[in-house]
Amino acid sequence: MPEQSSPQPKRIAIIPGDGIGKEVIPEVVKVMKAAVSAGSRELSIVEFDWGADRYLRDGTTLPLDAVEMFRRDFDAILLGALGDARIPDNRHGADILMGLRFRLDLYANVRPCTLLDRRLTPLRDRDENDIQFTVIRENTEGSYVGMGGFFKKGTADEIATQEDVNTRKGVERILRFAYEYARKHGRKRVCMSDKSNALAYGHDLWRRTFAAVRGDYPEIESSHMYIDNLLMQMVRDPSQFEVIVTCNMFGDIASDVGAQLAGGLGLAPSGNIHPGQVSMFEPVHGSAPQIAGKGIANPMGAVLAAAMMLSHLGLTGEARRMETAVRAAIAEGQTTADLGGSLATRAAGDWLVRRVESA
Ligand code: NAD
Ligand code: IPM
Ligand code: MN
Repeated sequence: MPEQSSPQPKRIAIIPGDGIGKEVIPEVVKVMKAAVSAGSRELSIVEFDWGADRYLRDGTTLPLDAVEMFRRDFDAILLGALGDARIPDNRHGADILMGLRFRLDLYANVRPCTLLDRRLTPLRDRDENDIQFTVIRENTEGSYVGMGGFFKKGTADEIATQEDVNTRKGVERILRFAYEYARKHGRKRVCMSDKSNALAYGHDLWRRTFAAVRGDYPEIESSHMYIDNLLMQMVRDPSQFEVIVTCNMFGDIASDVGAQLAGGLGLAPSGNIHPGQVSMFEPVHGSAPQIAGKGIANPMGAVLAAAMMLSHLGLTGEARRMETAVRAAIAEGQTTADLGGSLATRAAGDWLVRRVESA
């Protein structure tokens, strides 16, 4: 009889990137390992040094075979952040971050905005029940596709164009993803947001596709808001939202506002997902150059992103252990300064490790 084998280890690629990405990801790895070793699974972690330093050293951004390698050899990717003042056009960030989102076709950017402790929201008289919505951001189209150009650059007559690409296939799949996400997570409301009153072609396609798709999900209440109103309503009464679905750029903006309603960028996780294919998880925040190098960045957004990743890979108990530790740290004031505590990044990570180990 064959010996009973333990399950295959999950193969995780990590890309710490730049700035505070390089400070928070090591903490996440510690916490993740602690959470996983408490269970029966194993992780195999491979680190990639892609980022500003590497680009400035030898010109590497995203190696040619990276996409194929991730599809073949990895179950998921965990990314820190990309962005460095020495590269003002963000060339390396565009290649690595956008390159992976586009070329792995990670069309759904899932950004939960969940208030973990009422003391963390800037909104008066709001609590954990009021702020628990998810922004589903289209992640492969819109004005992010990099189509456009300059004419007469640097002259007084300069023209710059930036195309906004919306396809029927792309819009339909993100709308359906949002509804399926709502179903899977027991959410009853989906709000689609666009600017079809001004963007009469691209966002008209969003309106019409939404009208065609919503009927397939009759148990879910569907609504529509223009993006300007949506952002105002998120602040006025966030409790009205459960799932928000919108285009690439509006989703970028809405998810930063949502992150702040739920305690700040230091705490906000995200997943770049293509169901059934290798997907990438990252905190919503960037490389935060003002605080990089000081050892004070909050690692929790990245920890929660890693928890999303483990949950996505079916390691739900491990993910829950990590989330529970984050909640406990907040409840006990064991946090970095952005959340009112006094811990350094490493001490915040150590605290989470101890909590995960003792759970
Ligand atoms: P940012 O998210 O880096 O910082 C915005 C603000 O939030 C700053 O005040 C920062 O100090 C604070 N903050 C962010 N993360 C924090 C954390 N973990 N703990 C404590 N405070 C935190 O956004 P930015 O300043 O607009 O961008 C800086 C660089 O990062 C730019 O180069 C930008 O392009 C890049 N960026 C990258 C990503 C990514 O890789 N996914 C996301 C956003 C921005
Ligand atoms: C994010 C970031 C990126 C985006 C930037 C760095 C291009 O802001 O992940 O939210 O706009 O997608
Ligand atoms: Mn952003």
